[in-house]
Amino acid sequence: MISIRSATAMIKKLLVLLLAVAFLLSATPAQASPNEARKVILDVDPGADDAMAILLALNSPELDVRALTVVAGNVVVGQGVENALKMVSLAGRCDIPVARGAEKPLEQKLTTAEFFHGKNGLGNADLPAAACKVDARPAADLIVELVNRYPREITLVPVGPLTNIALALKKDPSIATKVKKVVLMGGSIAGGNATAVAEANIYNDPEAALAVFEAGWPLTMVGLNVTERTLFTRAELGQLAKEKGQQARFATAVLTFLVDLAEKLGGEGTPMHDPLAVGAVIDRTLIVIRDMRVDIETRGEYTRGETVASRHNCSDRRELRGDHYAVVGIETVQPNVHVAVESDGARFNQLFLARLRGK
Ligand code: BDR
Ligand code: CA
Repeated sequence: MISIRSATAMIKKLLVLLLAVAFLLSATPAQASPNEARKVILDVDPGADDAMAILLALNSPELDVRALTVVAGNVVVGQGVENALKMVSLAGRCDIPVARGAEKPLEQKLTTAEFFHGKNGLGNADLPAAACKVDARPAADLIVELVNRYPREITLVPVGPLTNIALALKKDPSIATKVKKVVLMGGSIAGGNATAVAEANIYNDPEAALAVFEAGWPLTMVGLNVTERTLFTRAELGQLAKEKGQQARFATAVLTFLVDLAEKLGGEGTPMHDPLAVGAVIDRTLIVIRDMRVDIETRGEYTRGETVASRHNCSDRRELRGDHYAVVGIETVQPNVHVAVESDGARFNQLFLARLRGK
């Protein structure tokens, strides 16, 4: 006869196994048929590279963009909403709701980055006034509504500070089991850009990042360790500049600003941070992933906002022996993130150029 204790232990083991299988399955390439576009919500802080990510998404038949939700980050949220509305107007997509989100991070003052994105956040590129209008629903409400309307169908693609996503989780924690997956641009396993170790999107709201990384949903992190190697160069800019359509002309202006700035700072091209996260949703084979335990540092004097990744998913187990501790073995830790560790930058840039051809 099985005792209650051993039955409970068996059920626990089964649950752990099921969770592990669900996590592994979430890493397998999506098999959507060509006419079955993936529903996505882009959470953006536009932002010059955000604008490129939006254009890539809107011109990719693999994606069915259900909303742009805007968060304060690169620019204040009002400017971000204006920019997002200009983007959907440029693409002739007023059918896509644009919702205004958080004005500031959960627990700290907002830091904007016009220094890197231009005064208007769009590399100072001009666009006509938006024809599309802002949605009445707050961003977090819209995320919750759409995820509940399409259970296990929505891919969230946050490419700014994670405030809106954390607010949506707080409002309805059940969305953690209802999204298909989250593919975010943020973090790094190889040093930061906002500080020595923290990437800007995580640094700009570490408490929100903590909630998102601990939510238990299938999460892919497209961080600086891959985006800084996915450079859009002057040669590729030359190819884009040959295109005469309005969207391509706008993209050329924005990327000229970014490539000029990158070169001034000693780089050989501009990192395609946010566009690469969208690219990874369009074509999973553009990145290579490894599963790791990633924790968010919220307290360190020098390390606040760091994504602390366990490369081997284990740590020492220690026991007190008199006046000191001794290592007595190794403890494994459960991975919680699919970490992008390599990207095919050349192929990604060709995808980006192809999607803007004739646009
Ligand atoms: C991230 O920070 C922002 O400046 C960019 O838009 C990107 O999302 C890169 O660290
Ligand atoms: Ca961004």
